[in-house]
Amino acid sequence: MAESIDPRALFTVSYGVYILSTEWEEKKNGQIINAFMQLTGDPICVAACLHKDNYTTELLEKSRRFSLSVLEDATPLKFIGVFGFRCGRDFDKFNACSYTISESGLPVVTDYALASIEGEVLSVTDIFTHKLFIAQVRAATVLKEGKPLLYSDYHTIKKGKSPERAPSAVFNVIK
Ligand SMILES: Cc1cc2nc3c(=O)[nH]c(=O)nc-3n(C[C@H](O)[C@H](O)[C@H](O)COP(=O)(O)O)c2cc1C
Repeated sequence: MAESIDPRALFTVSYGVYILSTEWEEKKNGQIINAFMQLTGDPICVAACLHKDNYTTELLEKSRRFSLSVLEDATPLKFIGVFGFRCGRDFDKFNACSYTISESGLPVVTDYALASIEGEVLSVTDIFTHKLFIAQVRAATVLKEGKPLLYSDYHTIKKGKSPERAPSAVFNVIK
């Protein structure tokens, strides 16, 4: 990393913690993501950034549709570990969680989820190690009341690490 970049400065940027799920040819998979944000209000568009090597990325490029489960602050680290440290190529994550199928046929993880947001991909941009998916929101539902898990709390209170493929993995060095 260039000497002029202090990673602690980037660590002051706020995010939530989410599970982004999709399905292609009957293969359901999902992963933890913090690199997600709303971009516009009318129509509502969002952005999600996924590592090129992730199984979710592979499926999402084909399905071009996803659901996003917004995780609550009581989400256990063990649960985050299933979706954030394991790869769906060698482990069936949907066998290890509760989920529903939305009206449009997307799997939506409901464990520890405050809300679900469904997006249809408009564009995919290559960003070095990752792919940036810009999507239009097609459905959004509140599942229960509660406080969302903040990415900063995941690190400071839950003492969670960033796996290698998270955009924020560079921050592990400052812990
Ligand atoms: C707190 C946290 C945040 C993460 N954020 C991202 C992210 O924004 N983008 C990404 O591609 N991976 C992120 N990851 C890593 C993926 O969730 C992880 O590589 C996952 O195992 C990929 O699963 P898959 O191969 O089944 O798709 C994050 C993981 C954690 C624990």
